[in-house]
Amino acid sequence: MEKCYKRHLVTAALPYANGAVHIGHLAGVYIPADIYVRYLRMRGRDVRFICGSDEHGVPITIKAKQQNCTPQEVVDKYHLIIQDSFERLGISFDIYSRTSSETHHKTASEFFRKLYDEGKFIEKESEQYYDEEANHFLADRYIMGTCPKCSAENAYGDQCEKCGSTLSPNELINPRSTLSGSTPVLKKTSHWYLPLDQYEPWLKEWILEQHKEWKANVYGQCKSWLDGGLQPRAVSRDLDWGVPVPVEGAEGKVLYVWFDAPIGYISNTIELMPQEWEHWWKSEDTRLLHFIGKDNIVFHCIVFPSMLKAYGDGFILPENVPANEFLNLEGNKISTSRNWAVWLHEYLDEFPGKEDVLRYVLCANAPETKDNDFTWKDFQTRNNSELVAIFGNFVNRAVVLTHKYFNGEIPSHLSCEKIDEDTLAQIPQIRKSIEESLENFKFREALKEAMNLARLGNKYLADTEPWKLAKTDMERVATILNISLQICANLAIAFEPFLPHTAQKLSYMLNMKGRNWEDFGSDSILRPGHKINDARLLFEKIEDESIEHQLAKLDASRPKEEAPEETATRLGSPVPLKDECTYDEFMKMDIRTATVLEAERVPKTDKLLKLNIDTGIDKRTIVSGIAEYYSPEEMIGKQICILANLAPRKIKGIESNGMILMAKEENGKMRIVTPEERLENGSCIN
Ligand code: MF3
Ligand code: ZN
Repeated sequence: MEKCYKRHLVTAALPYANGAVHIGHLAGVYIPADIYVRYLRMRGRDVRFICGSDEHGVPITIKAKQQNCTPQEVVDKYHLIIQDSFERLGISFDIYSRTSSETHHKTASEFFRKLYDEGKFIEKESEQYYDEEANHFLADRYIMGTCPKCSAENAYGDQCEKCGSTLSPNELINPRSTLSGSTPVLKKTSHWYLPLDQYEPWLKEWILEQHKEWKANVYGQCKSWLDGGLQPRAVSRDLDWGVPVPVEGAEGKVLYVWFDAPIGYISNTIELMPQEWEHWWKSEDTRLLHFIGKDNIVFHCIVFPSMLKAYGDGFILPENVPANEFLNLEGNKISTSRNWAVWLHEYLDEFPGKEDVLRYVLCANAPETKDNDFTWKDFQTRNNSELVAIFGNFVNRAVVLTHKYFNGEIPSHLSCEKIDEDTLAQIPQIRKSIEESLENFKFREALKEAMNLARLGNKYLADTEPWKLAKTDMERVATILNISLQICANLAIAFEPFLPHTAQKLSYMLNMKGRNWEDFGSDSILRPGHKINDARLLFEKIEDESIEHQLAKLDASRPKEEAPEETATRLGSPVPLKDECTYDEFMKMDIRTATVLEAERVPKTDKLLKLNIDTGIDKRTIVSGIAEYYSPEEMIGKQICILANLAPRKIKGIESNGMILMAKEENGKMRIVTPEERLENGSCIN
């Protein structure tokens, strides 16, 4: 925070109101954002924490069809579930609104209109699938057909769930509309596009030059988008759910959800502060921060800033975008459709009073620099051997002993030994490390430091053993308990951003007036003679049964092996065997080992890498659709297997000579196939 900002405007990604919130959302976005905001508030900063439901987009209309209700009913239902569960977890938004609100419709509509009037869009005609029976243009998800890659019959217009390929609707064989079942026809339609290519030089300067301090994962993703070259992006859709395009003759068209949703941050600020919102969005004194997950990076770092830049009028840009990676669950990707998730509202019902345990475990495991895994076993261990055994145990001993020996009054700090001084001296140091970590969005680190304060207290009591001194040296006992209670008071402050319910319980126990960050580090927060309240346990042990119950619940949705019946219906049956192939046919294929010498992205594509490989016989170029699974850097030096005698093909103007062998999992994961041990290049495989 080099610059001294007057205000901090913190946003958290607006969750889609087509489902509830799960632990992946929490660990990636809402818990770090809440910790940060609570910390800023404690430091006396002027902060607003903005969020709300994202209520437009195709998935919501599909959910409505599935549930036989209106999109409005879908979003009404999930908006309430989400809002309520956030509140119960203690996520301290200043506003949680929704993009179906009148304010939002008006704001988004005016935003579009200004850009439209100023000629900031380009209008383009294209051909899109149309259902003539339903009189409806078909968004990708409304089209199904046979997958061109694996021949599965129920591939969607944007993706085949069986083989995981990303598709576009016109690649499908025998496409059909999911609305009427009829065969869709191509029909001309016109849309507005934001010419992102025009913003490219400016974005390169702003991000790649001026924001080198952004997290490596964020900077890296931006760089690879910018290096690949940006293209105009459609900002409207043919759909009947969303903010209508405010242009004459645009009936049946709405703003693309990724155009209207980020404007939701602005509309929600307007709802919160109708008079003052402009100070917050249009002043260089405001620091704007977007907390998001990694799938949102391009929208928050490239698209939304370009929209704001196009709009002008003093709108500020984010100073940082601390995006996290993904959280997995018990080793598998969290999946809403497969119900492979821990839902916040269910957790809160099943673990009443344990809001902070979830906050603790998710922060301790936050996927800050790489994807991370949540397991119920780890949840139990962190609760039992960290929260209960260290934090809870220390506080309990200090409070109980104070009642036992001093009638619940803070004793005086009388003597002073080296261990006392050393212990107290560590508190301001811990404060400093917490501050440094938080200011650099290193929440795991910060939490670890806060826990070190509890460890410090626990160790201090174990080393000084006041219960043994009570018969002989009451003065010493007084000092030890005074110091222990000061540590407890410091804990109440340190944990306020992370575990607000616990901090509150603890300060009630200590009968503390407020929790002021400026007191953090002090050895005299509680005055001698001050009366404390009765001891209450801060944390309770979590028994094996409740963990087993959670695992059993998950088992019902466990992918593959464990539940073949279930999986068959949920994931679709395994890819069917292809037609028979003769020995001679197989022997025609020349499959060999090779090594990747150079790798780079094919400009203006998301999926393609251009590889230079050494086949042992020659050096050649292969273009391969693996960029979603491997970065160019990862590929260099790898040994691969190729079909070496595949007829050459031109892909994006580059001649590709051969094909890389890949193994594909049903859930879409792809890995290259390599010999178990490195072999000479050009070794034949058969
Ligand atoms: N609803 C989106 C998601 O869950 C996030 C929208 S963030 C906003 O991925 F900026 F568009 F609001
Ligand atoms: Zn497929």
